[in-house]
Amino acid sequence: MSGDGIERRWKLAEDIIREAGRLARAFFDNRASLSIEQKGLQDFVSRADKETEALIVSRLGRDCPQDGILGEEGGRYDDKGHGDAGHSVWVIDPIDGTANFLRGLPFWCISLALVHEGRLELGLIYDPVRDELFSGRRGHGAFLNGQPIRVSGVNEPARACIGLGYGHRMRQQPHVEAIDGLLRQGCEYRRFGSGALGIAYVAAGRLDGFFETHLNSWDALGGLLLVAEAGGELNDFLANDGLMRGNAVLATTPGLYGFVAGIVGFE
Ligand code: IPD
Ligand code: CA
Ligand code: CA
Repeated sequence: MSGDGIERRWKLAEDIIREAGRLARAFFDNRASLSIEQKGLQDFVSRADKETEALIVSRLGRDCPQDGILGEEGGRYDDKGHGDAGHSVWVIDPIDGTANFLRGLPFWCISLALVHEGRLELGLIYDPVRDELFSGRRGHGAFLNGQPIRVSGVNEPARACIGLGYGHRMRQQPHVEAIDGLLRQGCEYRRFGSGALGIAYVAAGRLDGFFETHLNSWDALGGLLLVAEAGGELNDFLANDGLMRGNAVLATTPGLYGFVAGIVGFE
C-alpha cells in the first residue's frame, strides 16, 4: 500500500470513528433500553457493541473493500465479503470499557487500528463523552483533536501514576502484585476500566504508563500506535501472533519503562 493509500485511510478512519461514536453515544444516553448479555465472567455485550461494530465494518467495506477486518464482536471477516486479514487488517473494538458503558460510567471509547504487512500504521481512539479524538499515523505523530500530543516527562516513581488493567479471564495474582509493588515504591496507580482509553492517556501525558497482563489486539493496538508516536516506550505487542492471540501490554514514558518492567516482572 502506498503512503497515499495510508493517508487516505487515516482521514477515512477519523470520519468513521466519529460517526461510530455518535451511534454509540446515542445508545449510552438511552442505555436503560438495552438488554445485556453476559459473554463470560464480568464480560458483557449489548446491541450497542454489535451495531457500532456493524457500522464501522460496513463503512470500511464500502470505502476499502480489499482490506481485511478483525473485530471484537465478529472476529475475522475474511469469509464475509471482505479482504484477507493476513495482508492489511483493520482492528476494531466498537466499545472498549463496555462494563463502564452499561453502568453509565463515562470512561469508554471506540478503538480502530490499521496493521499493514505486520506493521502498525494507524491508531485511533475516540471518546464520545468528552468528544476527544486521539489519532496517529506511524512516522507522522499523534494528535488529540488535531493538536500534537507527547508522553509526560515523568521519570521518578514518586511522581508517577501508572494505569493498570485487569480482565477476569486472567489470574488475579500478577495484578495484585503490580499494585503492591507500585505502592511500595511510592508510585500511584489508576484502574479506569478501559484499556484502550488508558493507553491513549499515556500518549497524551495524563498517565505516565499503562500495564495489563493480557489485552486483545482490538483493546491495545489503537493506543499503542499513539504512545509510540508520542515518544513513549512499549513492548512488541505484535510478537508471537499478538494480533490473533493478544499479549501483555507495557507502555510508559522512556524514563519509567525499566522501573515498571521490574515491578511487574516483565522480561
Ligand atoms: C476490556 C477493557 C478492560 C480490560 C479488559 C478488556 P471490553 O475490554 O479494556 O479495561 O481490563 O482486559 O477486555 O470488554 O470493555 O471491550
Ligand atoms: Ca476491549
Ligand atoms: Ca469491546
